Amino acid sequence: MIKKAVIPAAGWGTRFLPITKAVPKEMLPIIDKPALSYIVEEAVNSGIEEILIIISTNKGAISSYFERNSDLEAFLAEKNKLNDIELIKHTSYGAKIFYTIQEEQLGLGHAVLQAEKFVGNEPFAVLLGDDVYVSKTEPALKQLINAYNEKKSTILGTLEVPDSDTKLYGICIPKDNTSKPIVELKGVVEKPQGKAPSNSAISGRYVLTPRIFELLKNQTRGAGGEIQLTDSILRLMDSEKVYSMDMQGKRYDIGSKIGYIEAIIDFALEREDLSQDLTNLLINKLKD
Ligand code: G1P
Repeated sequence: MIKKAVIPAAGWGTRFLPITKAVPKEMLPIIDKPALSYIVEEAVNSGIEEILIIISTNKGAISSYFERNSDLEAFLAEKNKLNDIELIKHTSYGAKIFYTIQEEQLGLGHAVLQAEKFVGNEPFAVLLGDDVYVSKTEPALKQLINAYNEKKSTILGTLEVPDSDTKLYGICIPKDNTSKPIVELKGVVEKPQGKAPSNSAISGRYVLTPRIFELLKNQTRGAGGEIQLTDSILRLMDSEKVYSMDMQGKRYDIGSKIGYIEAIIDFALEREDLSQDLTNLLINKLKD
């Protein structure tokens, strides 16, 4: 059973400067909840009970969001705003949330390595905050956990990207003659320059075996001069099978500005309190 998840959230968020100078990228709101909230909700709905968030020293806003705030609860109680109290009380969806500080921003592999003690000797999930998934069936991570339960080996959540985008992702190299949906891999390459070996991109969800930590500890720097998780996953293939699986559902790349805006519009269109007003507003705007 996969009960632990790691969410790396220590980056500078340079694609969203200047706001990320003061507000962590993961705390940017999709309407009235931070992006991170949707990731935590997905993890909990996938059976995760304990979550380690890897933060940098200036990310107090993240822990404030998940902690109880008794002053605010008392204030709302005085005003008889009982619904609002419920809203602010359950921000962690019942998961136990822990934090650890990544002192230096040396890359995703280095961030995941900070989780070694928390994880111990069990398989675990990694969810990246830039990728928000909405699925009409099972949550994206749950789909991967089901695949892990079948294969008992590392699984990377993927999606197909166009040729023009392969340089932005870790790209999977399937073993020959492997069949879908769970695909055995013979390689992975981080942000390939030039022609990519496939269009299957790692997209923000992983189920990893704890052996990865041994490899991360002596991982040399790769693409972008960073310690890359993808490079250690490649070396993991020397000792165990690694699979990929396309996750079903809609993925929002909220690390990009247009993906972030799309997420806000789509989430609002799904909400009873906003859908009609937003539809009218968009129709009127498009008429202009
Ligand atoms: C990271 C990973 C990359 C993965 C991507 C997807 O890159 O290193 O392998 O494909 O996330 O979300 P980043 O987007 O942080 O540069």
